[in-house]
Amino acid sequence: MPKKTWTSSRIRETFLKYFGENGHKLMPSSSLVPHNDPTVFLTTAGMQQMVPFFLGMETPPALRMTSSQKCFRTVDIDEVGDARHLTFFEMLGNFSVGDYFKRGAITFAWDLLTKVYGLEPERLYPSVYPADDEAITLWGEIAGIPADRITRLEDNWWDRGPTTPGPCGPDSEIYYDRGEQYGCGRPTCAPGCDCDRYLEIWNLVFMQYNQDGQGNKEPLKKQNIDTGMGLERLSMILQKKETVFETDLFLPIIKKFAQIAGTTYGKDLKADTSLRVIADHGRALVFLAGDGVLPSNEGRGYIFRRVLRRAVRHGKLLGLDRPFLGEAADTVIELMEGQYPELRTNRDRIVDVLTLEERKFGQTLTTGLHLLGEKLADLERAGQHELPGADAFALYDTHGFPLELTLEVAQEHGMTVNEADFKAAMGRQRQQSKTKHGLADEREDELWTHLTATLPPTGFTGYTTTQGTSRVVALVAESQPQEMITAPETTPVPLEPTSAPLLAVLLAETPFYAESGGQVGDQGVLRSPTGTFQVVDTQRPAGGLIVHLGQMTEGYLKIGSEVQAQVDETRRDATRRNHSATHLLHRALKDLLGESVVQQGSLVEPHRLRFDFNHPRPLTPAEVEQIDQAVNEWIRHNFPVNTALTPLDEAKRSGAMALFGEKYPDPVRVVTMGTSKELCGGTHVAATGQIGVYVTTQEISSAAGIRRIEALTGQAAATYLMGRKHLVDALASRLQTSPDMLEQRVAQLAADLTSARKELDRAQRESFRDEAARLAAAATPVRGSSVVAASVIAPSNEALLEMNDRIRERLGPAVILLATKTVEGGATFVVTVSPELTSQGWHAGKIAQRVAERLGGKGGGRPESARGGSRSAAHLAEIVAEVPEMVATLS
Ligand code: ALA
Repeated sequence: MPKKTWTSSRIRETFLKYFGENGHKLMPSSSLVPHNDPTVFLTTAGMQQMVPFFLGMETPPALRMTSSQKCFRTVDIDEVGDARHLTFFEMLGNFSVGDYFKRGAITFAWDLLTKVYGLEPERLYPSVYPADDEAITLWGEIAGIPADRITRLEDNWWDRGPTTPGPCGPDSEIYYDRGEQYGCGRPTCAPGCDCDRYLEIWNLVFMQYNQDGQGNKEPLKKQNIDTGMGLERLSMILQKKETVFETDLFLPIIKKFAQIAGTTYGKDLKADTSLRVIADHGRALVFLAGDGVLPSNEGRGYIFRRVLRRAVRHGKLLGLDRPFLGEAADTVIELMEGQYPELRTNRDRIVDVLTLEERKFGQTLTTGLHLLGEKLADLERAGQHELPGADAFALYDTHGFPLELTLEVAQEHGMTVNEADFKAAMGRQRQQSKTKHGLADEREDELWTHLTATLPPTGFTGYTTTQGTSRVVALVAESQPQEMITAPETTPVPLEPTSAPLLAVLLAETPFYAESGGQVGDQGVLRSPTGTFQVVDTQRPAGGLIVHLGQMTEGYLKIGSEVQAQVDETRRDATRRNHSATHLLHRALKDLLGESVVQQGSLVEPHRLRFDFNHPRPLTPAEVEQIDQAVNEWIRHNFPVNTALTPLDEAKRSGAMALFGEKYPDPVRVVTMGTSKELCGGTHVAATGQIGVYVTTQEISSAAGIRRIEALTGQAAATYLMGRKHLVDALASRLQTSPDMLEQRVAQLAADLTSARKELDRAQRESFRDEAARLAAAATPVRGSSVVAASVIAPSNEALLEMNDRIRERLGPAVILLATKTVEGGATFVVTVSPELTSQGWHAGKIAQRVAERLGGKGGGRPESARGGSRSAAHLAEIVAEVPEMVATLS
């Protein structure tokens, strides 16, 4: 075979072609963000897209498949910088869904490595799961490798993580012996040793089980194969390089960073390590951003942030003080776009996200490193070896300097950090910020003062339109100005519980109405090509600034982003109707009750309006009806609503209604509709007819001398009125009459009910007399007195007491207990003891207490009379039957 150079592209193509020729369907790499799988943050292996096939939940497109998959792992992040560890890598894999199994997998791997890639068989060492004798036999049969060259490794079991549910199984790894010179020299050195001699290149997983993540496994229906070979490591071997970073996959990236840092690779071990870290992390971040991952404080966004911070810090070690990751992104993209065209498509987003996050962190880092350096030097001088938790926390809290960097830097100085104290300080602060808002408020004030001073007032276009294009001029998160805001991660297991706080977006101009004059702020959406912001409220925190509050639901926004602003029109329309109706209501109240009626407050929401005014007494139903009539008449009249900017003086002179104590701008907006004229900055209908219908739903007291009207308009009013109509219809039909006759019918029913009650009462008394006679006759004699205890049917305790009296009339000294079941399924009872018996020690209260105890309820009272009850009436008859005996023992 002619000796060709094994470029990484050729290695990748050769792999995919080999398996293609052996009946495998080529599957494109799936995204680093796992699709439809909440159990993992990022794709860590080629098998990720095979999970549903292995589990038998979906039918695979073919039983044999092959891919080159983008993968990301954080487990080895601290090792990155050595010869072979990476965060992002490409995994070459072949998969069998219930087709070939161990024999097939070993045969393909051996054949490809030795015959196609031409690796020397004697340099290849398999390892197997300790119990897997079958694999040892197969390696012997297929590759002629004797059992004593095969290592049994406990580690040869593969899952996506011990607590991650999903497929798993024993595996067989193939190691490449790089030669004794790379070894550690220990006699035990063998595949699996952490030194650089035996390099694991390929893992063949025999996927046979499904685990639930809690330690339970069950066999899968089919036996599957999942293999993974690191493209970077294979390239390192075939290209005969010392480390993965010298292969053609990395060298251009390393060179680019070296050039940015003004250094050369290969001169200095420390600098080389930093260059490697940056090359790995930088490449990884390009891929993460390319797949839509954005920096955040949770889940994969947090992974992004951590990796970037680590890279920035290593940049700093190389003397880089400006953003450099974004600058090198193009080198990565050019190198990889052939295989991963999404990098080119998303190029601008990648550069943006990297640069903005780098800039944001760069400042933090400079300050933090400086302070930490000083602190560590002080401690060193004092002969101490531990950084107090409070100092680490101050760096984090005041300067945003992450703990993991403090740990890393401290370690480089041979110091530890008191992490327990750090965590305690963090806990205390969380507790405080829950109870005390002073700090946050102060910060808010500072923020708005700063923004008002640096930004022109926001242009408001919302009187004439509900949409428009504008530019982002400021962004705020956690009371701090930001260069960029991003969508939070929706992640399977958030690292820390967070209740996403609202973010703020400020535009140069906006159609969104900010809450004022009682009218609530608009909602809607801001869309840019890079992301979507859902506006849940609009406010005017200070000066002329209009602030959109809400959440990024997708992607990101940065300063300068062009956005399409769209107000929720249905909501705005409903709000406008209510606002205009408020003006009509105000006018109608003055017309009816006199000019002394003054608005005391109002709330204009989309679904209702509320209007407070001074008036000494409630409105009569007739007055409310007159108000409703007047407002609806003006609505039908369809007065045009005119707005005019008028000098304040002139407006007041013209008799426009102004609210006492309200500060109005000059000139002021005057809103006129029919005979109503008010100073108002709110949004209104174009003509009163658009209000549709008005209805007062409540007239109540709001405070002393202040009445409150709540009302509905438009669709809400119509729905309300129709609901009332349906109710009347339903009641009429229920009472078998017509709606018009309903009132009469109800009066009739009420009268019938009263006479029926009287009749019932009479009948009950009669039956009580009979029952009382029967119970008195059946009294149990106890030491010369009578004890009556019975469960009877009676509607109330009062009825029980009445029956008690009837019984007593017939007996001498007596103890009487009468119980009944309540409609709720419980029991209630009364006990009386004749006065002559109480002196002998019999006590109604004690009897009640004892009986209640037996019933599982409560009871007690005076010596002559007591009562009790319980939630349950179980065993009532039984317990009542025990009473005579109980009474005997209680005295
Ligand atoms: N899924 C196996 C691994 O990642 C091949 O090693």
